[in-house]
Amino acid sequence: MNQAIYSMTAKEAIFGRSSVRAYKKESIDRPTLNALLAAAVRAPTAMHGEPWQFVIVEDSKRLMRLSDLAKVSFVTEAARLHADRPGLKVFSEPDFNVFYDAPVLIVICAKSKGHFAVADCWLAAQNLMLAAHSMGFGTCVIGSAVAALNASDIKHELGIPAETTVVAPIIVGRPSGESHPSARNEPQVLAWR
Ligand SMILES: Cc1cc2nc3c(=O)[nH]c(=O)nc-3n(C[C@H](O)[C@H](O)[C@H](O)COP(=O)(O)O)c2cc1C
Repeated sequence: MNQAIYSMTAKEAIFGRSSVRAYKKESIDRPTLNALLAAAVRAPTAMHGEPWQFVIVEDSKRLMRLSDLAKVSFVTEAARLHADRPGLKVFSEPDFNVFYDAPVLIVICAKSKGHFAVADCWLAAQNLMLAAHSMGFGTCVIGSAVAALNASDIKHELGIPAETTVVAPIIVGRPSGESHPSARNEPQVLAWR
């Protein structure tokens, strides 16, 4: 792996990352995508299970279609839960793309149903996002696509085995504008003992 592409300290990456929702049309080359995957699989993993698997989606037409399916399933599920959040309205807008026109979607999947398989995949996701940020790429978790990506016909289309579960869809691309870290509350420490 080309170490030179990492251009930040851990502190700069952790405190500088933010979700990116506007991307340039630039594609991402294979060595870069492989470097992101290599960072992902360095995450800690319970019982050394390494349950993660990855699907890389780069076809923009496919991403559009997946976005349309995700919007329908997200709105349906929200209605079922009687959720009435103002942010949900956008999912009914025809031009809204849940993947924000990013050139690449990396779908992190768990191949086992072990107790911590999902935790392992989220740790891999964070590694990937921090590595991407340190290389000048933007990322965003797209939780709203999880249900659609776990539908059996979509899993089949993406080459995801039936027993494998989609955990963390992450979009990646060159940011088209500036984004800044959002505010956080102070850590809530329950006790120092
Ligand atoms: C599990 C999870 C699901 C998320 N799903 C979405 C999503 O569907 N669409 C979106 O725009 N952002 C999504 N996000 C990004 C959050 O909105 C974002 O992380 C949060 O607002 C904090 O902002 P920051 O990432 O810039 O620090 C998700 C984040 C997480 C951790």
